[in-house]
Amino acid sequence: MKSKSLKKARVMKMAQILSGKEVSAAVKKKAALEVERLKERGIVPGLAVILVGDDPASKVYVGNKKKACELCGIRSFEYLIPASASEDELYSLVEKLNNDPEVNGILCQLPLPEGFDEQRVINTIKPEKDVDAFHPENVGHIMIGDHTMLPCTPAGIMEMLDYYGIDPDGKSCVVIGRSNIVGKPMAMLMLQRNATVTICHSHTKGLKEIVSQADIVVASVGKPGFVTADMIKEGAIVIDVGINRLENGKLCGDVDFEACEPKASYITPVPGGVGPMTIATLMQNTVTAAEIQNRKDD
Ligand code: GUN
Repeated sequence: MKSKSLKKARVMKMAQILSGKEVSAAVKKKAALEVERLKERGIVPGLAVILVGDDPASKVYVGNKKKACELCGIRSFEYLIPASASEDELYSLVEKLNNDPEVNGILCQLPLPEGFDEQRVINTIKPEKDVDAFHPENVGHIMIGDHTMLPCTPAGIMEMLDYYGIDPDGKSCVVIGRSNIVGKPMAMLMLQRNATVTICHSHTKGLKEIVSQADIVVASVGKPGFVTADMIKEGAIVIDVGINRLENGKLCGDVDFEACEPKASYITPVPGGVGPMTIATLMQNTVTAAEIQNRKDD
């Protein structure tokens, strides 16, 4: 009898959903308040977003960034450049924005179409306006731990963990994916918060065994449903960075949510998980950039 009711409880068990919608609203509210304070000093934070080519997913992200700017009172400048444009046109635009006092933050939406050198574009952005924190100078600051801005997705994830009272200290964290945008900085932020970090990637041997030991799993692979229930341990905290569009038009993450949710203690949904946090952090970074730039001018 007892084991039957226990079994039932196990079947009923559900993870706490980490709502990026809820946390991002709180972050944007705070950013909007800081914008109000800046406006009282005659400062209007401005964010320039550059989109090269017409990748549909990138267009949606850029549109969402514009909406978030409007909500927070940040001035947004959008630059749409055809994929046929030359690299030099892109560099000249970045230079122009570097020197524009109305622009505090510059973001060039990645990935860039073939033929564009992403790292060179990133290197061209003035570090103090690099609201992605992708410039080598900012990456160096992150390594040392004396950064002023952090890459939006990993920083948004840390914010979400803090909001729900999840402390990475002493926990084992497995990051799947080693991109400069998510995987590497994510590992660094977890390390700074005293997690024991492992980075897995396409050449990792025994991935399933490694992931199944983790207290925190961060999946940033770009493959729908890559993380399955048999890969995670009971009670794991599962963070899904993936945003994949299926053939039926539905969005899905890198985690098999339906299967993992009963096993996890906390899990992020897609949509409504990490995605909104990325944009909210971008708003916060733009406000921080505006504050710092005006501090220097005083
Ligand atoms: N593409 C996907 N995520 C990002 C991001 O955080 N910043 C930029 N610039 N491009 C992206």
